Amino acid sequence: MTKNIDVELIGIQKKFGPNVVVDNFNLQIEQGECISFLGPSGCGKTTTLNMIAGFLEPDQGDLLIKGKRMNGVSSNKRQLGMVFQTYSLFPHMTVFENVAYGLKLRKTPKPEMTKRVNAVLELVKLPHVADRYPKQLSGGQRQRIAIARALVTEPSLLLLDEPLSNLDAKLREELRDELKRLQQEIGVTTIFVTHDQEEALYLSSRIVVLDHGKVEQIGTPWDIYNRPASEFVHTFIGKSNRMQGTVERTGGSTVQLKTDAGFALQADSRDMSFADGEAVSIYVRPEKISISDGTPAAEGSNQVKGTVKSTSFLGAYTECEVEVGPYTIAVRIQTGQQMILFTEGQPVTLVWKPEDVFVFSRKGKGQ
Ligand SMILES: Nc1ncnc2c1ncn2[C@@H]1O[C@H](COP(=O)(O)OP(=O)(O)O)[C@@H](O)[C@H]1O
Ligand SMILES: [Mg+2]
Repeated sequence: MTKNIDVELIGIQKKFGPNVVVDNFNLQIEQGECISFLGPSGCGKTTTLNMIAGFLEPDQGDLLIKGKRMNGVSSNKRQLGMVFQTYSLFPHMTVFENVAYGLKLRKTPKPEMTKRVNAVLELVKLPHVADRYPKQLSGGQRQRIAIARALVTEPSLLLLDEPLSNLDAKLREELRDELKRLQQEIGVTTIFVTHDQEEALYLSSRIVVLDHGKVEQIGTPWDIYNRPASEFVHTFIGKSNRMQGTVERTGGSTVQLKTDAGFALQADSRDMSFADGEAVSIYVRPEKISISDGTPAAEGSNQVKGTVKSTSFLGAYTECEVEVGPYTIAVRIQTGQQMILFTEGQPVTLVWKPEDVFVFSRKGKGQ
């Protein structure tokens, strides 16, 4: 089956003055995909989205939407729906008028307009607020209306720039579920910009991880989490414990490591190649470590002894900080599974598997 490519970025570059803020961005987005641009503040997410939207022109490269070159084509000719972080509803218009706005511009006949506005208000589950003004709505409702307004014109591409960032945690989660449902129901090709890794993992078919205007990795949520292309990607997606060390020996599918603190560890080599003696950063995630107070309860060739420094109960899990030589290692214990309560000062053994160890070269990093 041939894939339908809806959006294509080919070598896109954008400079502000001397600063390159988007550098050689290449991407193909398939029809119906929900793709996230994920990265820290200032990495170039909004700038890229604005070039796709037609608010900014790239300095280099080509932008294609449905196979047509869009460089120089004005925004209103690109068939887009957009939602921004801040509520961008017109305060002096009712919800109905706000949602109808794009259809009015297109001179849609009134009966058709009413039908479509009502349908899209149903879709975001707010048919009862049509006559209200934006200030009479909660923050979450306003963003839902902004989404309705973006969808009413049946855009071929939906662009969302941190639409959930101004909402409190509970609402953010609710609207995130809602967005996923909508996106799957309508099947509209969507680009979702966020700095929140969980949102990106939850919503996307694929994630583009950006750092300093450069694409670090493009992959499925599973790939990004389990096969990070760089140390940046691994540490940006969730919490991870870092140790420094060197490669003792490579061979077969495992890498033998020695931490700077002197203890030995093993890692799966995955597809990475290292030289013997190479300086590396070694990572393991808190949820991949098992902790026991005596003989280790779990199997795994990485075993270290340490002392509990602190414990914090966080509902779904308890996080223990364990001192292992010079390192403070965070360990997550899921509530209900293995409910030994650890106390400060208690000697413990930590165990984790080679497949859960991530190793990145420190070559050229000056540390
Ligand atoms: N109009 C502008 N003029 C100059 N610099 C800008 C402009 N817009 C954005 N920048 C800079 O470009 C970089 C990327 O910004 P932006 O795309 O907004 O990042 P993000 O959305 O990932 O937080 C930042 O360093 C920002 O300060
Ligand atoms: Mg931004």
